[in-house]
Amino acid sequence: MLSVLLAVVLVLLGAAYLWLRRHFRYWQDRDVPHVPPTLLVGNIFDLLRYRCCFGEQFERLYNHAASRSEDFVGIHVLHNHALLLREPALIQRVLVSDFSAFASRFERTDPVRDGMGSLNLFFAQYEVWKEIHQIFSPLFAHGKVKQMYPLLEEVGCKLEAHMAALKYAEDDSVIIEVKELCALHTTDIIASIAFGIEANSLANPQAEFRRMCKEVNEPRFKRVFHLFTMFFFPQRAELIRTHLYSAEYEKFMRASTEYAIAERLRSGAQRNDLIDIFISLKQQTASGARAEVLRQPDFFVAQAAFLLLKGGGALNYEAICNELPYMRMVVDEVLRLYPPTSFLDRRCTAAQGYSLAQTNGVDFRVPQGMPVYISVLGLHRDARFWPQPLVFDPERFSPENRKLHTPMSYLPFGAGPRGCIGTLLGLLEVKTGLIHILKNYRVEPCALTLPEMKFDAKAFVLTADGGTYLRFVKDKLC
Ligand code: HEM
Repeated sequence: MLSVLLAVVLVLLGAAYLWLRRHFRYWQDRDVPHVPPTLLVGNIFDLLRYRCCFGEQFERLYNHAASRSEDFVGIHVLHNHALLLREPALIQRVLVSDFSAFASRFERTDPVRDGMGSLNLFFAQYEVWKEIHQIFSPLFAHGKVKQMYPLLEEVGCKLEAHMAALKYAEDDSVIIEVKELCALHTTDIIASIAFGIEANSLANPQAEFRRMCKEVNEPRFKRVFHLFTMFFFPQRAELIRTHLYSAEYEKFMRASTEYAIAERLRSGAQRNDLIDIFISLKQQTASGARAEVLRQPDFFVAQAAFLLLKGGGALNYEAICNELPYMRMVVDEVLRLYPPTSFLDRRCTAAQGYSLAQTNGVDFRVPQGMPVYISVLGLHRDARFWPQPLVFDPERFSPENRKLHTPMSYLPFGAGPRGCIGTLLGLLEVKTGLIHILKNYRVEPCALTLPEMKFDAKAFVLTADGGTYLRFVKDKLC
């Protein structure tokens, strides 16, 4: 009996091995240049062992010896057959000119049970995305962001007050961990813009909003498992019942959004923030003038919750946007070396697939459903586009040098219809924060500053591992 059982197990193991070998020969069988995979884990073994983060894993594949001279290569993300694009002209086709064939991201969450996770722009699949995008894109355009500027300025003043209240050494200096400082600043801005609420994170870092933002990003097992399923096994999202947020965060967000809307309706105040926009959309929905998606119970809270997750002299909006060109150059160079979203992805949505013919002589039709990845970190550190790529040099972004950039070699905000909707707001947020600090302080490295930034292997977005400590010396510019 035992020997029969053993034989059955051996046969099953043998069959599984043969099936796996065939599965992982996918690219070889199609004569497509590819990075040789390892059985079961494909090409992301370093990521699974926490040897690197997502961004670095895709950068390693981008720079792999098998990829270096190719426009695109076949890879395996676990068991998924996928493509990694390297050539900017091909990236342009996928993100921009042939968008209709790559209209969704690969990742998705349970659309039935996770309304809060699936109804935001980032995770929404094409049909739903189209409706939400139509509603929200005008709200993040120049004019609207300009109206939000006073709210950012208000938080900038709170940032100054927060820093002034710190304990200084005799030489008027203080050492600050800047990652946390930026997080407090961003939380207060987004809470103000999205909820019309004073989150008070800068005044009290233990305040509830900040606590919730920390909680939602905690790498707990259940959350990591759900995120992993959403990104790599999206077909199983319903089975696993994935949720983008924890139950506690969902409860908090629902209560906050409901409270903010009710409070605004009661007071009748106008703040030019998202709550004003939500109220006007709700009124249009009631009169039947708006899209179906607005009637989904979690629509409004889904937008607000996602915005909070994204956090990352007498000046006025025009001055910040137009009259500080060197600061813009510095910010652009920081985003080149450290793009928070260090890889992009799309899923082929064309029923007939998509032909990559005319690219490097290799013809391959991307089948519907296949994920396609772009390594932003790889492109941003590629010597073909950025000579001496690891050198920090803001001059790369001077008006003259900008004209020399290869299109699509710089993608900190992605590109095409699914590029970042918050680009203007994100840049304004960074610049306002910098101005409120630099007008009062000189910033220097200190004994705790690491000579080289290491990335947190557990984080989805590019995140510095450990703290980033800097010395701030009082030095008033104006
Ligand atoms: C410096 C700050 C920011 C950076 C570097 C950044 C970067 C990105 C990137 C790379 C993407 C993916 C684009 C693609 O797939 O082509 C993205 C998408 C997105 N971002 Fe941002 N972002 C920033 C700030 C913001 C802010 C402040 C908001 C909201 C107000 C925001 C809202 C979004 C949304 C909604 C999407 C999904 C867009 C869609 O699929 O239509 N981002 N962001």
